[in-house]
Amino acid sequence: MNKILIAFSAMFCLLSFNLALAADFNAAETYTTSCHGCHGLDGSISASGIESFKGKSAADLEKMLVGYQDGTYGGQGKMVMTGLVKPFSAEELKALGEYMAKM
Ligand code: HEC
Repeated sequence: MNKILIAFSAMFCLLSFNLALAADFNAAETYTTSCHGCHGLDGSISASGIESFKGKSAADLEKMLVGYQDGTYGGQGKMVMTGLVKPFSAEELKALGEYMAKM
């Protein structure tokens, strides 16, 4: 019985740790500090001729960000974005995509 309890509490600890890690990344804050200068606070400024983010889905935005990171997406100005998305994890890029889709 004790072993089961210990296993359960260990699992719970791991779970809450994971949730805490995910919550540590604040997409809104990241966007405001790292992205709004070129794209605008509401995503409506189109940097170097790209369309604004408005109306794009979270999945599409995430795909673009991941693409910049692995070099499979981008236009003439992609060097700028490739450098910018480098430090983010896949989950963080997903969170950024979700945030931008709601702007
Ligand atoms: C220094 C200016 C600059 C900053 C800061 C910047 N971007 Fe960009 N962004 C660009 C440029 C230029 C492009 C067009 C690149 C290309 O030619 O593919 C672009 C393109 C994009 C695209 C693709 C849009 C499309 O329709 O193809 C996304 C998504 C994006 N940026 C998200 C972000 C996010 C998220 C951040 C913050 C982490 C960010 N950008 C910060 C300049 C910037």
